[in-house]
Amino acid sequence: MTIQTLPKLGTPSLFQPSEPIVEFDTPELHALIEDMHDTMIAAKGIGIAAPQIGVNLRVIMFGFETSERYPQMQPVPFTILINPEIEILDDEKIYMWEGCLSIPGLRGKLPRYKKIRYTGFDPQGNPVEGIAEDFHARVVQHEVDHVNGKLYYLHIEDLHDFGFEEAVMERAILENSRSAS
Ligand code: NI
Repeated sequence: MTIQTLPKLGTPSLFQPSEPIVEFDTPELHALIEDMHDTMIAAKGIGIAAPQIGVNLRVIMFGFETSERYPQMQPVPFTILINPEIEILDDEKIYMWEGCLSIPGLRGKLPRYKKIRYTGFDPQGNPVEGIAEDFHARVVQHEVDHVNGKLYYLHIEDLHDFGFEEAVMERAILENSRSAS
């Protein structure tokens, strides 16, 4: 188990677009995926992207059964996605609160597309595709942003909807459970 440190907001590599994986099923790729997974679990995250552990490659993963960081959210199936792409299936956007392991202690409310199709590859190079809605769609969009060098706070429309967890968490849980129902 190799838990990596999580560079925080302000670290230049977090703003750098990542490079695609060209060779699949390599020991390096499997080691990267294991490090990402261990780091995500240790930090109680529900998703992680390679740039968050300082590796600018287009590898993301997401999924959870239950989450302390996102109580009341429906489970999201665990998925590893390499060279991910998103297609918007519904122009409707939903406003919800989210956080990020690269921005510890803070939460923001921002719009994300309600329904998307995601495509990419698994670690062996087999095509992966799925349709995601609501919070699941939000998590995928958040992680794909990371490999494009974008963090969630750039989507916040009203900066009053941004704050420390101890100040905004009660409101975030209430508003998220309303949006989810
Ligand atoms: Ni994040």
